[in-house]
Amino acid sequence: MSKTIQKNIHYKKYYVDSKLQYFKPHSTKIEKSFADEISFSLNQPLKFISPKFFYDKKGSELFEQICNLSEYYPTRTEINILKKLKDELPLYLVDSFRLVELGSGSSIKTRLILDILNRIQEKIEYFPIDISEILTESSALLQQDYDDLHITGIIDTYQGGLEFLSNYDDQKNLIVFLGSSFGNFTSNDGKEFLKKIHSTMKDDDIFLIGLDLVKNKTILENAYDDSQGITAKFNLNILSRINDELDADFNLNYFSHHAIYNEHDQRIEMYLKSLIDQSVSIKKANISLMLKKNELIHTEHSHKYTLSQIRELMHQTGFNIKNTWLDENNYFALTLVSKN
Ligand code: AVI
Repeated sequence: MSKTIQKNIHYKKYYVDSKLQYFKPHSTKIEKSFADEISFSLNQPLKFISPKFFYDKKGSELFEQICNLSEYYPTRTEINILKKLKDELPLYLVDSFRLVELGSGSSIKTRLILDILNRIQEKIEYFPIDISEILTESSALLQQDYDDLHITGIIDTYQGGLEFLSNYDDQKNLIVFLGSSFGNFTSNDGKEFLKKIHSTMKDDDIFLIGLDLVKNKTILENAYDDSQGITAKFNLNILSRINDELDADFNLNYFSHHAIYNEHDQRIEMYLKSLIDQSVSIKKANISLMLKKNELIHTEHSHKYTLSQIRELMHQTGFNIKNTWLDENNYFALTLVSKN
């Protein structure tokens, strides 16, 4: 039985019922507002918009559609690897583990891991960590399908949630970060993030990370520039969001989606390309933006890795690799690491 260590006094608890509760910080760290971030990033010589702004309601729906595209191989490939882990993952889950997910995740992947835990443990506990309250919706859905699932949602940044967890109790955690979301960090931020996970993990915790692998350029570029134009809509939607929330007048007809694979830096780079010389006003960010024909606004990096780079990354950030699982085409890797 695990002992609860009550040190999380900066969080308010929302008790729904005996199997569902949420924690939310009393006050979040003062983060820069959307307007301030946009004002800064679009005033740089190389203009950019942070990919974290993709995910408003419409953007999240479009991302769901991307995950189901035939060209976008990462989601189904990772699901197939997870399906094959039902006998092997339990070898690393001796005694009882709680599932902690960074991001409230795709319900299919979460369910595959919960199913594994359900087969080998009496009680299953799930801790999703997500900055968005969307977590409450996905949790309620999961509850309908698992009789004995106890959910504690942490509505906070990944960093805040991981610190919360390290102060919560002495239960062992299986932390998962899937979908190659790690690839959207810059290399430095990614390394800092892994070090943070390492430092907040307890000795017996384990961490499963999904990473997309380097592959043929055409396969990669098609995955990020699909024939139905869904990724283009997803990319352009960030401008609609700025129009709606910051009182701007981007005309989406004057921009195009541009995705290229940078072989040197091993990453897909996504941009919005201005199709004409134009000026755009963003009232709530106090800017009047001048864009030249063909000028690019950077919106996302999606890094791809080799297996030796994954090994190197894990060693540099203090982890010990327990196992790596691949699909039959070597498109995607799931790597399990421990703290020591
Ligand atoms: C969320 N993330 C891992 C996706 C990726 O593949 O980098 C985001 C995405 N952007 C365009 N398509 C998908």
